[in-house]
Amino acid sequence: MSEAGVAKRPLLLYVNTPFCNSKCHFCDWVVKVPIGDLRLGPESEGRRGHLDALKIQIAEQGPVLSERYQPELMYWGGGTASILSPAEIETLHGALAGSFDMSGIVEATIESSPESLTLDKLTLLRGLGFNRISIGVQSFSDDRLRMIGRAHSAPMAEASIELARQAGFDNINIDLIVGFPDQDLAEVEQMMRHAAALPVNHYSIYAYRASEGTVLRRRLDRANAKTDLANQLKAYQLASDILTEAGHPEYTFAYFGNPICKADLAYYQMKLDWIGFGSGAFSVIEGRMKGFRAGKLHDYIAHPTEFDYDVPLSDGAQAGSLIGFALTTPEGVDAEVFRQRTGISLEAALELPEVKVYLDQLCQYGRLITDEAGIRFAREDIEKVYISMNWHEQPAEEATADADVSAKPVPVEIGLPATAPV
Ligand SMILES: C[S@@+](CC[C@H](N)C(=O)[O-])C[C@H]1O[C@@H](n2cnc3c(N)ncnc32)[C@H](O)[C@@H]1O
Ligand code: SF4
Repeated sequence: MSEAGVAKRPLLLYVNTPFCNSKCHFCDWVVKVPIGDLRLGPESEGRRGHLDALKIQIAEQGPVLSERYQPELMYWGGGTASILSPAEIETLHGALAGSFDMSGIVEATIESSPESLTLDKLTLLRGLGFNRISIGVQSFSDDRLRMIGRAHSAPMAEASIELARQAGFDNINIDLIVGFPDQDLAEVEQMMRHAAALPVNHYSIYAYRASEGTVLRRRLDRANAKTDLANQLKAYQLASDILTEAGHPEYTFAYFGNPICKADLAYYQMKLDWIGFGSGAFSVIEGRMKGFRAGKLHDYIAHPTEFDYDVPLSDGAQAGSLIGFALTTPEGVDAEVFRQRTGISLEAALELPEVKVYLDQLCQYGRLITDEAGIRFAREDIEKVYISMNWHEQPAEEATADADVSAKPVPVEIGLPATAPV
């Protein structure tokens, strides 16, 4: 309850770490982050500046939000949240705990890469209340990992799962990618059978997106090679069949297993507001989308409390993006929830030009069901719709680092994105 006796609303605390040990050749999350900034070490001025800026943003916005909100979920993502040093982790957690009542948090996830995990760090994270870990494994083939520019080997990935278990994590997700252009179904099958036998309970299976600005995309373009949609669909279905057989069925597009990831699902289903701290983070709060542009580390450090954009969710691009996320779930868009979050009816949103264009694209690949409750894709069409959307190119001006926030909605990225999907 707030002091005025009004029940507080649930909140998701998201913290973005815009740093990684490698700039992976496939990754479209950090394309806008210059490699020199991305790979800064813990003692660098940029890393220290980012942590100080986070403390300032949290100290200013936390107490105000705490009057109306009670955090229920926490997600530290990136980039790679787990590359933070133990000292950085403690400082950041202390800043959050100083401004928010963390006692109501039921799920706290840290996103990680295998090479950045040690037993000490994992034990510290468990001690601070993290009860879910997501590990970016991507593949169990050392050749594949080298080719895609990962900073770890397959044995290191398996060892990191073991370390997480030893530290007391019993809710473990691994990220895997299927559908690289040169990947045959035998490689997918081998990877998935191996994955299904590991002591993890949740899998995020991403169909490879050949995104502009990545090393792999440049390689593909030079070779005039194209990824093949039909093969990618087969690869995803094979992965899905193997996981289902092993007792980890898909509960929403790309996510398999149990317990579900409450943070991702809550966001997709527009269940709660979300505050994003850090360079590149965005918030969906009180009917508005606000945030900091990705790749602008030094601007964030200089002005951590001044959002780069702050637009209503009823704006066409934002409404389209929310609808796009919700349609990845079997439940789709709940008309009443949509109205409460955005202030406009779903009916009106569907008439906005940006939303229309985007939905028309999606509807080329699947059957959209519309009724009084809202809209959703036929369950069996969701993967086809969203995997097909990987193949839609953005017009050049939207793909630039300075793309206007009111630009058309673009194909949604699955997983908690580091940047606003604008
Ligand atoms: C923020 S990263 C995860 C954590 C950590 N940075 C790591 O890489 O280990 C998010 C995930 O998005 C997926 N991803 C990134 N770029 C992708 C692309 N172009 N196609 C498909 N999946 C991609 C990867 O599986 C990656 O693990
Ligand atoms: S996949 Fe992860 S580690 Fe690699 S560049 Fe992307 S965010 Fe960083």
